[in-house]
Amino acid sequence: MAIDYYENVWHNGKFIPWEEATLHVASHVVSYGTCLFEGIRCYETPQGPAIFRLKDHAQRLADSCKIYRMELAYSVADLQQAMTELIRVNHAQHAYIRPLVFRGLGDLGVNPLKNPIETYILCWRWGKYLGDEALKNGIDVCVSSWNRIAPNTLPSMAKAAANYMNSQLIKMEAVANGYVEGIALDHTGNVSEGSGENIFVVRNNRIVTPPLANSVLPGITRDSVITLAEELGLPVSEQVVPREALYIADEVFFCGTAAEITPLRSIDRIVIGKGRPGPVTRELQERLLAIASGRAEDKYGWLAYVHQPVAAR
Ligand SMILES: Cc1ncc(COP(=O)(O)O)c(C=O)c1O
Repeated sequence: MAIDYYENVWHNGKFIPWEEATLHVASHVVSYGTCLFEGIRCYETPQGPAIFRLKDHAQRLADSCKIYRMELAYSVADLQQAMTELIRVNHAQHAYIRPLVFRGLGDLGVNPLKNPIETYILCWRWGKYLGDEALKNGIDVCVSSWNRIAPNTLPSMAKAAANYMNSQLIKMEAVANGYVEGIALDHTGNVSEGSGENIFVVRNNRIVTPPLANSVLPGITRDSVITLAEELGLPVSEQVVPREALYIADEVFFCGTAAEITPLRSIDRIVIGKGRPGPVTRELQERLLAIASGRAEDKYGWLAYVHQPVAAR
């Protein structure tokens, strides 16, 4: 499947053509995975393209860089501006935006500090990450035999490329066994997250999600879901989720920028609830997508309209 990319790429403050956004194989990132990145959606709205929670994603990128002692040459405001301009110069109405900060060509030892820091931002057209039917009907998933990265190994609060080697093991095993996605447990055997999504469990109208200490990425959609659930009078508690709580839940869903809100209809071939998306999942999905696509009032200021100054956010 080819990437449906937009032609202009932002590189260290300049726009370059997609074809020129290349790097040398001796770059530090290739051998050692030295890259922090983001995934952000720009939605088509009646007021033109709008980037969902732009500032929060830019901040998380800055946080990821800080954890890895990577001195980002751009402020959070600069990154917001760059992403907004990128959408503008590409005349994009909707996009998935991928900023990457990595160590380039300089030295081939493990110590990254002698290598230059490169910042790129790409964007492309991306449909429904887990399949067109996923959001409507839900997906069949498994619990992975791979654990999520343990504390004091790779920090899960940083969105680092290296973490996605673990994600790839989870994803490949799931697909090889006929599932759409895998849920990883953390090093204690409790629920952590999907290979690229956070997870929520609903039972008797109570919603829980694993806390950050269970090796989860501090998802921005996760945060949006917590806010929207509170609005619906269903406060979310961040608490440890044992594996078996998944099987006896009324509803379980994944959330993330790519996956948005995706219901899970079975886990390890055990049917969840009635085997179709439940009312809480549906309501949260509808609320989130209504705000993101500009159909509902953006009362939390989550949309950064591309054709307005960034400061208006
Ligand atoms: C491992 C992992 N967890 C959770 C998420 C969800 O995070 P967000 O909602 O910020 O996209 C992602 C997606 O970036 C992810 O890769």
